[in-house]
Amino acid sequence: MIKKLSFFCFVVVMLVLAVPLFLYPPSYTADGETFFNLRCGLCHKSKGGEAPAFAPVKYASSQWERFFSKNKHQRKKDISAEVSPEEIELIKQYLMKHAADSDRPIAAGLK
Ligand code: HEC
Repeated sequence: MIKKLSFFCFVVVMLVLAVPLFLYPPSYTADGETFFNLRCGLCHKSKGGEAPAFAPVKYASSQWERFFSKNKHQRKKDISAEVSPEEIELIKQYLMKHAADSDRPIAAGLK
């Protein structure tokens, strides 16, 4: 009886732990940092890339805000085929959060 009960408890706990996976499948939880590396890293590389590598500290938070809101990348290169608007939004938040003047600046960027 105790064994059955503890197995039942085990199953319930496992199901509860699995709920976040159903609510937030990995593809949706991929955050700004992941997309930054995947998408921006397509071209921005320290070696052999089409464009130079950079890190969030390249700009201050307000400069990143302007960079994205004015769609400044367009002047250098159209990246709408490589990066979706939803991904751009996540990447923007990541870069602003870790910008040069942020609480948590990140200087290690794309490789
Ligand atoms: C398809 C290739 C490609 C992708 C993808 C790409 N870039 Fe670029 N990016 C470029 C090129 C080419 C330049 C111009 C490099 C130069 O002027 O030497 C550039 C320039 C830049 C610059 C410098 C702009 C300036 O005014 O000097 C920044 C910042 C930048 N990209 C950020 C990003 C971010 C953030 C992402 C991801 C959302 C991204 N790039 C994705 C190709 C790309």
